[in-house]
Amino acid sequence: MTALSNETDFPVDRAVQDAQRVMAQRRAGCPVGHVHAGASHGEGWLVTRYDDVMSLMTDPRVKRDRRNVPEQDTGEGHESLLYLDPPDHTRIRRLVNKTFTPRAVEHLRPKIEQLADELLDRMAEQGEVDLISAYALPIPMLVICELLGVPEDDRADFTAWSEAINGTQDDPAVKREAYAYLEKLVADKRTRPGDDLLSALAVAASEEGGALSETELLHNAELLLVAGHDTTVFLIANTVLALLGAPEQLAEVRAEPGLLPAAIEEVLRYDSPVNISSQRWTTEPVTLSGVTVPVGQPLLVSVMSANRDPARFDDPDRFDTHRDQSARHLGFGHGIHYCPGAPLARMETHTAVGKLIERFPDLRLAVSPDALTMRDSLLMHGPTTLPVRLS
Ligand code: HEM
Repeated sequence: MTALSNETDFPVDRAVQDAQRVMAQRRAGCPVGHVHAGASHGEGWLVTRYDDVMSLMTDPRVKRDRRNVPEQDTGEGHESLLYLDPPDHTRIRRLVNKTFTPRAVEHLRPKIEQLADELLDRMAEQGEVDLISAYALPIPMLVICELLGVPEDDRADFTAWSEAINGTQDDPAVKREAYAYLEKLVADKRTRPGDDLLSALAVAASEEGGALSETELLHNAELLLVAGHDTTVFLIANTVLALLGAPEQLAEVRAEPGLLPAAIEEVLRYDSPVNISSQRWTTEPVTLSGVTVPVGQPLLVSVMSANRDPARFDDPDRFDTHRDQSARHLGFGHGIHYCPGAPLARMETHTAVGKLIERFPDLRLAVSPDALTMRDSLLMHGPTTLPVRLS
C-alpha cells in the first residue's frame, strides 16, 4: 500500500490516559490526520474538530456498512443499527423507535430506584468503595437485563457473559458461552415474547419490509448490550468526577436538585463517555479542514474532542453547569445514528447520581484525580475504578 499523506504520530497510551490534552493538540495542529492507533485500536483518519465531526455524521458519502464501500468490502457485515446504512438502517431504526418509547423508559425507573437504594445501603456499611464496581456498573447491567428480558435466574451468569460480549473479558470459552446464551435468548423471545424490548422488537413488523430477520435481531440485541453498558457506567462516573472537582457547583446541585439534568448534560460535553465513535468509511474523497481523505478510508471521529472545540464552545475546558446548552454537544451523536438510548441513559444517570449525592453529603475522592487510570480504549472515555470515601 502506498504511504498516505498526513501520516502522523499518535501516542496511543497517552491518548488513553491523557485523552483531553492529546485531542486538544490534534485539534489545534492536525485536525484531520491518518493515525496508527496500535493493534487493538486499528488505523484511520482521526477527525477532531466540531464542524468536521458534525458534517461527517450527516454526509451521504460516508458509510457505516463495509459492504457499501467497494475498497473495503469483505462480504461480511454486522446487521445492527450502528453498522448499517439506509435503507436497512431506516427500516430497523423505525422499529427500534417504535418500541424504545418514553413509556418503556418510565417502566424501568422504579426498578432502577430500588436497585440504587439497595446498593447505597450496602455501600453505607463501608467507609471507602470503588464507585464503579459497587454502583455505576450494576445499574446499567440491570437495565440491559430488563431490556433483553433476561430471566432472574440467569442474571448472575449474564453479568460475566456481557463482559465477554463487551470485550472486557477475553476468555474464549466464556465468549462462546455468552454468544450461545444470547442466541438462545433471542430464539426464545421469538417463540415466547415477554414484556421486554427485545420481545417487542422480535414481534414488531415495519410497514415497508416485514419483521427483523434472525441475524438482525441477534446483532441488535448484541448492540443494545454493548452500546448501553460502558457508556452509562462512564456517564455516571464522569458526572461524579466532574461534580467532585467543582465543589461549589456540587453544593449548588445539592441545594437545588433541579439543576442536576443540566449538570449531566454538561458532563456529556465536558467529559464525554464516548471518545471515538465506531468506524465510518469514505465512499468518495472528502475534504475536511483543508485535508482530503481519499476514497475507501476508515474515519475515526472523536465526539469527545468535538465537544471541547474552542471554535464551538466558550472556555471549553471549564465545567459549567450553567452553560448555555444551545451550542449542542455531540455526546449522543448526531444525524440518523443519534443515540436512541439517550433518554434512558439520562434517566439512569439522574437517578444514580441524584441518590448518591443526597445520601452521602461528605462524598469525596479517595485518591488524587491524577492517580485514576483510564479504561484502555480509544472508544470509551472514563476511569477503570473510582475510589471514593463516603463519610
Ligand atoms: C451515557 C450513555 C450513552 C452514551 C454517551 C451514548 C452515546 C452514543 C453515541 C455517541 C451514539 C452514536 C454513535 C455514532 O454515530 O457513531 C450512540 C448510538 C447508539 N446508542 Fe447510545 N449512548 C449511551 C447509552 C445508550 C443506551 C442506554 C442504549 C440502549 C440500551 C444505547 C443504544 C444505542 C444504539 C442502539 C445506538 C445506535 C443507533 C443507530 O445507529 O441508529 N445507548 N450512542
